[in-house]
Amino acid sequence: MTSVFLETFGCQMNELDSELVAGQLRAIGYQFVDRPEEAEIVLYNTCSVREQAEQKALSRIGLVGVRKRAGERVILGVIGCMAERDGTDIFRRHPQVDFLCGPGELDKLPHLIDSARRADLASHEGATERPSLAERAALSGNKSRRSTTLAAAEDNLESLDLSRAFDPETTGQPRHRAYVRITRGCNKFCTYCVVPNTRGAEVHRPPQHVIDECRKLVDLGVKEITLLGQTVNHYRYQHGVAVTASGEEAAQVGPGLSVFRARGGAGTTTFADLLRRIHDEIPDLARLRFVTSYPRDFGDDILEAMRDSARICRYLHAPAQSGSDRILRLMNRGYSVNEYIDFVDRAFTHLPDATLAGDFIVGFPTETDEDFAATCDLVRRLPFKNNFIFKYSPRPGTSAFSRLADDVPDPVKRARNNALLSLQSEVSAAVHAQLVGSTQTVLIDDIRTTRSSQRGRNHIGLITVNGASVVEQASVSQSDSVSAQFVGRTSGDIIVAMDCDSSTDFGHHVGELASVFITRASPLLLHGRLSVGGPTASS
Ligand code: 5AD
Ligand code: SF4
Repeated sequence: MTSVFLETFGCQMNELDSELVAGQLRAIGYQFVDRPEEAEIVLYNTCSVREQAEQKALSRIGLVGVRKRAGERVILGVIGCMAERDGTDIFRRHPQVDFLCGPGELDKLPHLIDSARRADLASHEGATERPSLAERAALSGNKSRRSTTLAAAEDNLESLDLSRAFDPETTGQPRHRAYVRITRGCNKFCTYCVVPNTRGAEVHRPPQHVIDECRKLVDLGVKEITLLGQTVNHYRYQHGVAVTASGEEAAQVGPGLSVFRARGGAGTTTFADLLRRIHDEIPDLARLRFVTSYPRDFGDDILEAMRDSARICRYLHAPAQSGSDRILRLMNRGYSVNEYIDFVDRAFTHLPDATLAGDFIVGFPTETDEDFAATCDLVRRLPFKNNFIFKYSPRPGTSAFSRLADDVPDPVKRARNNALLSLQSEVSAAVHAQLVGSTQTVLIDDIRTTRSSQRGRNHIGLITVNGASVVEQASVSQSDSVSAQFVGRTSGDIIVAMDCDSSTDFGHHVGELASVFITRASPLLLHGRLSVGGPTASS
């Protein structure tokens, strides 16, 4: 069996892509290993959103080069956004790379691997010719923005999602949560962002496919599904029609058409409709969440669907990016600070128990101390439970890169980053503190156990029974005492750590909902006590 090592950089979309790629390769006989040194084929699923992520992948690529120069036979594939962004220039700069595959072409990966293996065999037998570029690179280029090829290309990609082999036994991934993609690509063109270039135009998956996939996952034991899209709340599926990048409508080719026929009428499925359908048609799904939301696309219909559906998580990840109107305009975000605040007010009116999270970029070109102060004001003003904070990273191919000089010096970016982090930490602590004394329903994600003995405290192993982790009692001697800590998340995605002090607590399992009394709060997490009587079945 041929061994493959796959490492993923970047976002949840990439994690899902890697899962699909791994499933596809496993199904045709490849075996996955944990270390690149053990693999005949090394794949890096790369991210281009910030330079740092690219640098990390490049250093891994460099290490494979060292192995190759030392005479080792290993095939190296670079997949994902970096492949798409850098294109075939990678072959020139990093000749150790055997093939490239963009995120919109992942269905072609088996073919690329196959060609690379044949070429490797031939070169081992003395051949000097390399395969053609077409055989070494599957990239969308600009074609994914052309409406005529869009539907056909998407059909192939759609088959990758549809043939998903969710198999926690072999992949080691948690069996109780899963991602489901609902939209590919992005049409927003924020000036700093490479995603519209690397992942192409926005294309929405047919609702029936999404629902079937969710149902399949729930039948396999998944308790929590996270719907994924770059602007997930912009989902809109027009039955029988595909909306192209330029906004025109073209006849839908492929899966959409059959759904259209089956439903017997034209119509549109909005994001709110999709949420309601998944919630209502799959009652065994304990939790439904979604990321990432675009603030401007958060209509009341979505908030109402959330309010009416108890098992939809009260979690809003809607990046503000900046608290300065001037910077928001330069970023082409399409909303003002006041519009963002209005959205948050509307959200809390509909969902008083919701939590808010987001992303901010500091050090965007021309950002002054006043602009940054406005960002701090926004963070102080709204109850963000957390924010991911990034230093602006100029990305070739984006309009900010070509039009705006990266003029905020790195030490200033760093200082703003640290200042915003510490401010966010205060805000998080205050948001968390309000939950002390409440009872929260927590989805248990993990159990960490510790053995205390005369030799000190050691972590001990866990065993898995029917997919749930339990304490490995056998490894505990009489004189030792075992304590365990469960870690889980609230419906609003706040992490909760729960100490278990009686053996009855060990009856709680990973992947179950538990009722937890919140005793303490810190900026990063909540601490709580599991209620006696085991997990509850409510949301
Ligand atoms: N520099 C810094 N941060 C970026 N992000 C996207 N592009 C850049 C960039 N060029 C951040 C945004 C986005 C998150 C996924 O990454 O905050 O919401
Ligand atoms: Fe990038 Fe903006 Fe699209 Fe998000 S909405 S993926 S930041 S272009």
